[in-house]
Amino acid sequence: MRKQVILGNWKMNGNFAEIKSLCESLNRAVSDDAKADVAVCVPFVYVDYVRANVIKKIGLGAQNVSEHDNGAYTGEISASMLKDLSCEYVIVGHSERRTLFQESNQLVAKKAKKAIASGMKAIVCVGETLAERNEGELERVLTAQVEILFDVLSEKELEEVIIAYEPVWAIGTGLAATPEQVQSVHKFIRSVVTKSNELLAKSIRIVYGGSLKPSNAKTLLALEDVDGGLIGGASLKGEDFGEIINQAKCITC
Ligand code: PGA
Repeated sequence: MRKQVILGNWKMNGNFAEIKSLCESLNRAVSDDAKADVAVCVPFVYVDYVRANVIKKIGLGAQNVSEHDNGAYTGEISASMLKDLSCEYVIVGHSERRTLFQESNQLVAKKAKKAIASGMKAIVCVGETLAERNEGELERVLTAQVEILFDVLSEKELEEVIIAYEPVWAIGTGLAATPEQVQSVHKFIRSVVTKSNELLAKSIRIVYGGSLKPSNAKTLLALEDVDGGLIGGASLKGEDFGEIINQAKCITC
């Protein structure tokens, strides 16, 4: 049984006034009886404010974490610091970090390991660029992004992983992948997990991200191998995020 999880990724958006009004709109728009797990991954500096001001059942997450425990790493934030702030989730390996900050598969897996060691869930983003898809590289790219997790994480640690399939070409473009594309890639990712751990493949949550919004959420979240969503743009409006949460399918109730 896989409970769906709806995750907001606020990225580097907002100032104090906007974060305050986003918290207020979440409190208005998110219902108390959400069928899915819900969390928002917010800029580090607002984590504590969101924790104190969102009164709905919404978990907290960050968008990155250091691969080191502590020490002379100016500008970095450790997993234990995030845990101190009540974070339950950390996004690792978002395509923006892979592309803009040259994060490798190995580094992403190390960050996931640190997050999990501190008691959080790691949302590991994977996905292909349009060029990779067009060149028939999709399966190779995704396999490498997923299989590294089995090299770096223990069986127990893998239970705390959520995989987010985010085709790079669908992020922030308004053009989500089609339901057929999403289901077929999610099924493929699950088959990659099956090769290493059959039991885990049944329970691991694979969420979709990339222009997920109220108008396509129902269709995409209903797909067999889709266990939730990672939402960027639409998570910046409490009403839209609330509507997406309402479309989550309920498997456990
Ligand atoms: P988007 O972003 O929903 O704005 O496409 C998703 C993400 O980058 O996580």
